[in-house]
Amino acid sequence: MGPPLGKTLLPNHYGILYYVKSEKFKFYDIRMPHRRCRNCHWVLQDYGGKKSQMHQFGPLVSDVWMDIHRIRHKKRRDEHPCQLPVHLLERLLLMSSDEGDIVLDPFIGTGTTAIAAKRLGRAFIGTDIDPKYVEIANRKLEDEEPTMINGCYVSIFLDNMITVRDKDWNKIKDAFLISQDPLELEKREIQLLHKKRKTIKHETAKGMQSSLFPLYEGCEEIATATVNVEPVAENPIGRQALENFKSNIL
Ligand SMILES: C[S@@+](CC[C@H](N)C(=O)[O-])C[C@H]1O[C@@H](n2cnc3c(N)ncnc32)[C@H](O)[C@@H]1O
Repeated sequence: MGPPLGKTLLPNHYGILYYVKSEKFKFYDIRMPHRRCRNCHWVLQDYGGKKSQMHQFGPLVSDVWMDIHRIRHKKRRDEHPCQLPVHLLERLLLMSSDEGDIVLDPFIGTGTTAIAAKRLGRAFIGTDIDPKYVEIANRKLEDEEPTMINGCYVSIFLDNMITVRDKDWNKIKDAFLISQDPLELEKREIQLLHKKRKTIKHETAKGMQSSLFPLYEGCEEIATATVNVEPVAENPIGRQALENFKSNIL
């Protein structure tokens, strides 16, 4: 968020609009880690005497997300004025899509949505009017790999798990050191057994092909930059789909 413009309160939130096209839409319950005191690490939320029944990982997320912040550190930012954090997009994708689904971001910027999609095994199509951003996005995408624990996609930032699907927790929890005493959960965070993202990947996602398109204003042709991972047999984004997509945006 930027500084306030004129006489107004400091803008300090993003609104996310969630629309579905039909009654058959995807929605998965997702969990975030418990909010804890930064100094003593005790859980902050008052569970009204029922802390012994707390979920080991953390609560189901509500419609207010206070655990994901704008990118503050310059070293984690690209030269883009409104870059979003990847783990915000990962949370949205874990909530509303499955492996192999196609994610479209027509305003891809420096690739946040595409990176989140690639980490979560989704195919993606992105466009941006500024070819400089598309170039940065493609460069960053080269280093990205799927993030999985025990066969489940998860969102990890700075070696901390930020979002898991509720239904995946029973498979994922083996990757954590969790005290047998439920009351210990109140005092101490559960620990990932292996801290580096690379060492907790257990499988790679199915191959897929995804694309980013720079849009040149006033140009007849759209130059395409294609990111190939592997061809997908089950859920291909074929040439035809890409041709159709291009003609739709022209
Ligand atoms: C809010 S930013 C998106 C930032 C992105 N979510 C990220 O994290 O990097 C909007 C983007 O839309 C692009 N844009 C603006 N007008 C456009 C247009 N007509 N067609 C395609 N992209 C456009 C801008 O270049 C900018 O990168």
